[in-house]
Amino acid sequence: MKTPFITKAKAEEIIKEIPTPFHIYDEKGIRENARKLYKAFSWNKGFKEYFAVKATPNPTILKILKEEGCGTDCSSLTELMMSDKMGFKGDEIMFSSNDTPAEEFVLAKKLNATINLDDFTHIDFLEKSAGIPEKICCRFNPGGKFSISTTIMDNPGDAKYGMTKDQIIEAYKILKAKGVKRFGMHAFLASNTVTNEYYPTLAKILFETAVEIKEKTGVKLDFINLSGGVGIPYTPDKEPNDIMVIGEGVRKVYEEVLVPAGMGDVAIFTELGRFMLAPYGHLVTTAIHEKHTHKEYIGVDACAVNLMRPAMYGAYHHITVLGKENEPCDHKYDVTGSLCENNDKFAIDRMLPKIDMGDILVIHDTGAHGFAMGYNYNGKLKSAEVLLRPDGSWRLIRRAETPEDYFATINDFWDVEL
Ligand SMILES: Cc1ncc(COP(=O)(O)O)c(C=O)c1O
Repeated sequence: MKTPFITKAKAEEIIKEIPTPFHIYDEKGIRENARKLYKAFSWNKGFKEYFAVKATPNPTILKILKEEGCGTDCSSLTELMMSDKMGFKGDEIMFSSNDTPAEEFVLAKKLNATINLDDFTHIDFLEKSAGIPEKICCRFNPGGKFSISTTIMDNPGDAKYGMTKDQIIEAYKILKAKGVKRFGMHAFLASNTVTNEYYPTLAKILFETAVEIKEKTGVKLDFINLSGGVGIPYTPDKEPNDIMVIGEGVRKVYEEVLVPAGMGDVAIFTELGRFMLAPYGHLVTTAIHEKHTHKEYIGVDACAVNLMRPAMYGAYHHITVLGKENEPCDHKYDVTGSLCENNDKFAIDRMLPKIDMGDILVIHDTGAHGFAMGYNYNGKLKSAEVLLRPDGSWRLIRRAETPEDYFATINDFWDVEL
């Protein structure tokens, strides 16, 4: 059972001023969850969450998370710029990019962000483009398959990210010789894991590698970044992760591996996006068409431009029809957007209550990698974003795009001369 964090009355109140579709975020839920994460890792003195800006790149969201003690994890120039503008400084910014353009390294270095090198060859590239900073992180990819017990979670051997074991060891040697004083290590080996075992299993691999690095290079890491990947249950039948159990699991391997190696002062960092935001966002949309052909269709005013995950990955997002929460789910629908793409469907063969035109639908768990993935295909415009405050009031935190925004990049080119 998934319950929306807004009522029909609240949605109607907002819609009077902000037409659907829009994304709405639950400030109370975001803050409570962030506090729980910090509690789960309170055993580690240097613990810090660097929120993955790519998940929800909105200044108000970053401000809330900053107040909760988080830094930012950036992957691009504009994410660095947003972090800077929102007052994140130096050690509060992680720059975990890949295939990185020189100008992005230049800005990251200027901001004193912690640069996380994706590849061995980036040492030279960084030195030439921006210079080698005093602190640096290296991204590890052990290859092979990442499994927990007998379950394969993901396939790092097939992933474009990170350095091999031999490369990372060589990288630390070279960076040390070039004068780097503070070091970290990072890895992201599986995405959207709905198990309390992911972080502890990853931590064991990284902690053992950290001990090996110390033995082979003399480099003692200051921090280990477990990155993102802690997931959420998109389907109502799944149990959510318990972050307290996850924190304890990491503590156990920390005490087993790092403490005996004299590395009991290594800080643990995380770089979560989905876990921090996904459940605290809804996409709110209105049913505007019904179509009865070979199937029963409900057309809504949102489309894949507003939420790409179902079209891109066939991802499940739960849907609640506001005001009909207690009605029987006895109608089978495809819930579609308006793109000229048959995969623009928020739900396929979904059992829902009877939907009438004008009904307001909440699409759940859209707070991360939701609005952010949007694009402008079919000339569609990106939606507004709204914040629901803990006292029940709400605030617009990004207006919807207008046709003027869409045309802004070609305004100088209307009078085409060939
Ligand atoms: C480098 C890096 N860090 C963190 C994240 C956040 O991942 P998640 O939202 O799954 O926690 C991502 C997601 O793509 C990423 O690429």
